[in-house]
Amino acid sequence: MALAKLSELLSSVKDNSYAIGSFNVSNMEMAMGAIKAAEKMQAPIIIQIAEGRLRYSPLEILGPIMMAAAKNTTVPIAVHLDHGGTMETIKLALELGFTSVMFDGSKYPLEENIARTKEVIALAKSYGADVEAEIGRVGGAEGDYKAVDIALTSVEEAKCFAEETKVDALAVAIGTAHGNYKETPKLRIDRLKEIAAEVSCPLVLHGGTGIPDDMIKKAISLGVAKINVNTECQLAFADATRKYIEAGKDLEGKGFDPRKLLAPGAEAIKDMVITKIKLFGSEGKADE
Ligand code: 13P
Repeated sequence: MALAKLSELLSSVKDNSYAIGSFNVSNMEMAMGAIKAAEKMQAPIIIQIAEGRLRYSPLEILGPIMMAAAKNTTVPIAVHLDHGGTMETIKLALELGFTSVMFDGSKYPLEENIARTKEVIALAKSYGADVEAEIGRVGGAEGDYKAVDIALTSVEEAKCFAEETKVDALAVAIGTAHGNYKETPKLRIDRLKEIAAEVSCPLVLHGGTGIPDDMIKKAISLGVAKINVNTECQLAFADATRKYIEAGKDLEGKGFDPRKLLAPGAEAIKDMVITKIKLFGSEGKADE
């Protein structure tokens, strides 16, 4: 098992009964924590990094770590570039062996998004990799990018986009946003239902942090097959690290050793990913 393709993982989801969790990582501990959770739960997962994070975590350094971590497992793990915006970065991810890339053309008019996505698909397919695209615009801020407003996905545009590009997965904007919500988000379940009725490719929900559990379950039942979680990964890591430091352990004995300092963060990511795997219903699906 081990390294898997996005399309294999998403096509194994039958009857809208579960979704694959896609977790953003920005260092080795986060990647290893997420993968330990997947192994414990015998669940397939995706580990991903967004282009907006690469200033801190260069793809040429973190990419091979993600690839090695994914190959060295007993469960299927896809390695994905999240919110790719430039051909240069997309090409680098493909060169490193990432099994899929997202091209985020949501800022372009429909025709241009279609044309650019087709270019990315042609390139990715030459590497045997899959492509996720976005139609409409998920709100909030991802990495170094500025916050943007939500632009709900139009059903007609989603249908046209999916048919024209034959993309492997399509991120739709149904009221979610990247980052922490100021108030509980209200997902446009009605819009998701309409999109799912017209679009046959697997749908992706971005902005997975802070969405109430019942809405997540409803979205899965309507055809969301991949759910992205970033902010909660960071919060879990930061909270555990802060607690460790506040307890003064970093100053005692060999508590300053990076192995001790970063271990609680990795453990916290593992616990958080386990919670998500249970919520998304992908526990025990490694063999499907
Ligand atoms: P959150 O940061 O809201 O979890 O969103 C993650 C995401 O959609 C990454 O693409």
